[in-house]
Amino acid sequence: MNIKGIILAGGTGSRLMPLTKVTNKHLLAVGTKPMIYYPVEKLVSAGIDEILVVTGVDHMGHVVNLLGSGKDYNCRFTYKVQDQAGGIAQALALGENFANDGGVAVILGDNIFKSSLKPYLAKFDTQQTGARVLLKKVAHPQRFGVAEIKDDKVLKIVEKPKRPKTNYAVTGIYFYDNTVFEKIRKLKPSGRGELEITDVNNAYINSHQLKYDFLDGWWTDAGTFESLSTANELVLKDPPK
Ligand code: G1P
Repeated sequence: MNIKGIILAGGTGSRLMPLTKVTNKHLLAVGTKPMIYYPVEKLVSAGIDEILVVTGVDHMGHVVNLLGSGKDYNCRFTYKVQDQAGGIAQALALGENFANDGGVAVILGDNIFKSSLKPYLAKFDTQQTGARVLLKKVAHPQRFGVAEIKDDKVLKIVEKPKRPKTNYAVTGIYFYDNTVFEKIRKLKPSGRGELEITDVNNAYINSHQLKYDFLDGWWTDAGTFESLSTANELVLKDPPK
């Protein structure tokens, strides 16, 4: 399968106000670099060099100024503007033409991974169809999409459950075949008015096409003050590979 990368770097960053009042969350510092460098490096080191970056119109200029053509990062960037912050799946829908009938490795711009994504990408590649997510045991699953697992299968994923049934968070890296775009077209906005990535994953579960791995090495998002501080500590103490 031809697999391209998509970095979702939109949203309002409301949980980090006022740090995000005049800038985009993904441009804030984590360790010694802007946050968005981490997902770029993860995709490139996994062997993906065609990368679409999606962000809002307010900060697209800054994102392009920072990343440019991609020649400094050994990749080629394409950019798409998300007009309104309507959820992760809505942002992903903008990648349909870019994907050009192939598969996509979608990474949330505020997710930082210690380990290489290469082995997981290789497994997805052998799948031919469907989707693959990476799960990580966390202390506070309420903040994430949470996977319910039985007999080695994900039964369903619940977005930010009040009473999570497991400790397995769905991390912000998703591998999808090209049917993802058709699935997004069928989604309805959630209670918070967004097209949820969790609903995309549940659509794959309903068609028996979602596979998963447990992620090796540390993982964190950086979208809240607490997780941003954790991200800073982790990248300095134990830098990503
Ligand atoms: C998003 C997803 C959630 C996932 C998380 C990973 O949540 O909706 O399912 O577990 O990213 O960082 P957000 O933090 O954007 O609310």
